[in-house]
This record gives sequence, structure tokens and C-alpha cells, in this order.
Amino acid sequence: MGKTIDQIKAEALKAVETASDPEGIKELSIRYLGRKGAVTQFLRNISDLPAKERPEAGKKANETKKILDSAFKEALERIQKPAGADDRIDVSLPGRSVQVGHLHPITRIAGEICGIFTDMGFDIVEGPEVELDYYNFESLNFPPDHPARDMQDTFFISDKVVLRTHTSPIQVRVMEKTDPPVRVIAPGKVYRCDSDLTHTPMFHQVEGLLVDENVSFGDLKGTLTAFVHQMFDEQTSLRFRPSFFPFTEPSAEVDILCVMCRGKGCRVCSQTGWLEVLGSGMVHPAVLENVGYDTTRYTGFAFGMGVERIAMLKYGIDDIRKFFENDFRFLKQF
Ligand code: FA5
Ligand code: MG
Repeated sequence: MGKTIDQIKAEALKAVETASDPEGIKELSIRYLGRKGAVTQFLRNISDLPAKERPEAGKKANETKKILDSAFKEALERIQKPAGADDRIDVSLPGRSVQVGHLHPITRIAGEICGIFTDMGFDIVEGPEVELDYYNFESLNFPPDHPARDMQDTFFISDKVVLRTHTSPIQVRVMEKTDPPVRVIAPGKVYRCDSDLTHTPMFHQVEGLLVDENVSFGDLKGTLTAFVHQMFDEQTSLRFRPSFFPFTEPSAEVDILCVMCRGKGCRVCSQTGWLEVLGSGMVHPAVLENVGYDTTRYTGFAFGMGVERIAMLKYGIDDIRKFFENDFRFLKQF
């Protein structure tokens, strides 16, 4: 009498445990379940058994066939899949590279602007973004109900509190705490209800303030011209255009030749050939008096520039809103 079906099963299961390649498993499958395999033979020889043993032996043999069949399949899967892998992870895929970040272009330009002025001896200061009406307007010689308040579309928090519309309130905060001479720049975010190709509701300014004896409009012009030539290059054209601010007298805005059209006129510069980058002027005596400075002795100049405008010119960007859309394809270029 040959082996019992239990012996065949035990032997096959042991063999499959030690099989280490697909070919080995295929061989085992043939050896046990193939046409001449041990289990097949056993089934074929059942008729030789005593009649009362036949049903039980047939049932067992068929069960064994199923058990071995799935044991072979499992073993095959185990061998073909590397250790530790599961169905959701394809370990043969190349790894994901780590994205290296960099400064936002606006942060970078703001840093460059500050760098040029600190080299000239200015100190960096900051002020609050949520600001009292007093500092944003009143102390800067905007009387209540003065139409000049409409120059900047203000976001109000309450009657007396606003999101600062410019960095100029920092001038007053600094002068309240320091005696002249004063030489500071103040970078920061400002807010206005404004949006088009060259305006966004949040943007950045860098404020500058210099107060001392004998400060003239010539110092203002020289300082800002030196700044523009360092920020761009010596050939960059700029112009001082007479303007009005309640807190400076006389006042001027500075325009830079539009880099998009080289002065010919395009949609970015509203066909003027120039793009306004900053406002400036000699600090109004009323502002100096508000902080208790002796106006017979001290004069000063101040300016406030748009960081995004400078970035647009520097990088040739034709729509300011692109800086704030967080489109990685755009930001990656800088
Ligand atoms: C002012 O904000 C004055 N505080 C500047 C100033 C400071 C004058 C000190 C005198 C003395 P103005 O509103 O023009 O001025 O804004 C200054 C600059 O900010 C503009 O020249 C422009 O470059 C930029 N700017 C203004 N509005 C926006 C905006 N919505 N989006 C982007 N940039 C803007
Ligand atoms: Mg302006």
C-alpha cells in the first residue's frame, strides 16, 4: 500500500515552505497535482480501497487537492513580492525628490531694498498692521473728513481702528519715541480696497524717514536716485513728478521707465511709458509739530515705495496679482 493522503499532504506542505523560486513551486505543483501527480494518483487508486473506506478517502483527497492548490499559489505570490511590500506600494518606483524651497520674490525684493538703505546707514523698524486712525491719518495731517482720506480706500476695523493703508504711520511712531537725528526704513504689509493689473488689496511698502538739521529736497532726490541706480542699474531712467500728500510739502512721486514697453506705452503703464514706484516729499511741519520736534531746527524727507511695483519692473512681470496666486510654476522661476 502506498502513502496515505495525510502523508502526501504533509510532505507537500513541507516542501512548499522551503521552495524559494517560482520554478520550484511549479515543479511541486506538477509533482502533487499534475496528471501523474501523487494526489491525482491517489484519487485514481481509490477504487482499490475497501468499499466502505472509499467515500471518506475521496473526500479527503479532494480537500487536499484544494489545500495544496492554494498553498502553491500563496507561496508563488510570497516569492514574487519582496519582503515588507504590500499591495498599495510599488517599491520599484523611483523615490520622490524633495522640493527645495526659496524666498518668495516679494520677500527677496523687500530684503534687497532694505539692504541698500541699511548700507546707507538707515535702521530697520516695524509697526502694527492693525493701526489707529490717529497714526494712519490724523497725526499725518489728514484732518477728519479731509478729502485726502479718499486717496486710499480704507478697510475699517472700527471707527477708530483701520488696517493700515500705508507704512507712513510708522514715521510718527518712531518720532514719538526718538529725538532727531532719525534715519529709519520700515518694511511691511499694507491694505487697500483696490485690485487691477498694478494694484492688490494687500501689498508691501518700504517707508523711509530721515530727519536732521539742514536736510533739503536735494538730499531726498540724491538718496532716491542712488537707490534706483543700485536697485536697477545706472542707466535706469526715473523722474520726479510733483504730487500731493497731506504729510509732505513739497511732494513728489517717482516713476521708473516701464520695462515692459521701454517707454513706448503699454497696458501695464496705462500707455504712459512710466510706472509709479513711490511717493515722497519733505516732512510737513505739522507732522513734526505733532511729535514735538523743533521745526525751526529740524527738517526731513520721507518716502514710501511699493515693493511689488519694484519687483514687477525688476523681473518684467506684467500683472501684479501673479505674485499672490501661489502658482508654483510662476514662483519657481525666481
Ligand atoms: C503712499 O502710500 C504714501 N504713504 C507714500 C509716501 C510716504 C509719501 C512718505 C510721502 C512720504 P501712495 O498711495 O502713492 O503713497 O503709495 C505708494 C506706492 O505704493 C505707490 O507708488 C505704488 O508703488 C504702491 N502702491 C499703491 N497702491 C498699491 C496697490 N494697491 N497695490 C500695489 N502697490 C501699490
Ligand atoms: Mg501714488
